[in-house]
Amino acid sequence: MLAPGEAAPPSPPLAGRSAEMAVVDAFLEQAATDGAALVVTGEAGIGKSALLALAARRADQDRGALVRHVAGAEFEADLSYAGLHQLLMADAADLSSLSAPHRTALETALGLRTGAPPERLLLTSAILALLQQLSAAAPVLLVLDDVHWMDRATAGVLSLVARRLQGTRTGMLLAQRDTEESFFDRSTIPELRVSPLDDETAAALLRETRPDLHTAVRHRIVAEAGGNPLAILELLRALTADQRSGADALPASLPLTVRLRRLFADRVTALPAPTRRLLLLAALDHGAGAALMRVVAASEADLEPA
Ligand SMILES: Nc1ncnc2c1ncn2[C@@H]1O[C@H](COP(=O)(O)OP(=O)(O)OP(=O)(O)O)[C@@H](O)[C@H]1O
Ligand SMILES: [Mg+2]
Repeated sequence: MLAPGEAAPPSPPLAGRSAEMAVVDAFLEQAATDGAALVVTGEAGIGKSALLALAARRADQDRGALVRHVAGAEFEADLSYAGLHQLLMADAADLSSLSAPHRTALETALGLRTGAPPERLLLTSAILALLQQLSAAAPVLLVLDDVHWMDRATAGVLSLVARRLQGTRTGMLLAQRDTEESFFDRSTIPELRVSPLDDETAAALLRETRPDLHTAVRHRIVAEAGGNPLAILELLRALTADQRSGADALPASLPLTVRLRRLFADRVTALPAPTRRLLLLAALDHGAGAALMRVVAASEADLEPA
């Protein structure tokens, strides 16, 4: 906890993400002076939420921005305006100064009054009016994580808001897995694709997290994680102390944590059906996997995504 008057420590940088943070900083600048949207995409575990969190901290600490946050959730995806509710409930007190139609539209969407669902364009104007009002004192940053799980009603209206941010001093920063569909129309929003870390950065991250890690073990994790930070950290976590130090040999297949199993399952689910069948064959045939796949693959095109 900080003492009164004590400055918050600067946000630690993310390993190997200085180019991405430069894009995010430029976005924050444009957002704070005018208004802007940016969508961060990439596979599960690649570091989208980590980038969003760092951006939110910078917006708050460096620019005094008002940050509002929502994360799409699979179990709320069918609930109309669940996302908007999460995003704006903290500002419900500010609705009183909006015009009556705007206020009614927002209150109905947020479940603060009963009535027919508001017309989408009216709700869009109401949200923009609220953002204008909130950003009079300080810039606003709306952080929308896991947009692929956001309910359709929220995604629809926020897609419209995203295109009309000019002059509002509001930033909308989104994250979406590129393997998932979404109701959010991000066709006109600039995209920041987050790629796997290179081997050098992955090794540095491991050294920093576990300075005592045996070199051979580090090489093995770097090779198997494919530059995915979640995979790097979770593969490390799944090892015993003796495996980490090199006292015990590593098994042929590294142990997986629950999160990792989910990560790899997501990756496999995203592949085309013929490729999935080939991978299953390879998994059943310990050892000769890749060779077998090449023999039975109907075409190179089926093999490529694997
Ligand atoms: N560049 C990095 N340096 C260090 N740690 C990182 C980096 N990127 C991500 N991490 C860590 O890796 C883990 C996964 O990252 P994160 O949750 O941001 O992934 P994600 O892309 O949001 O995945 P999902 O699509 O599942 O939400 C987190 O523990 C995060 O702190
Ligand atoms: Mg995430």
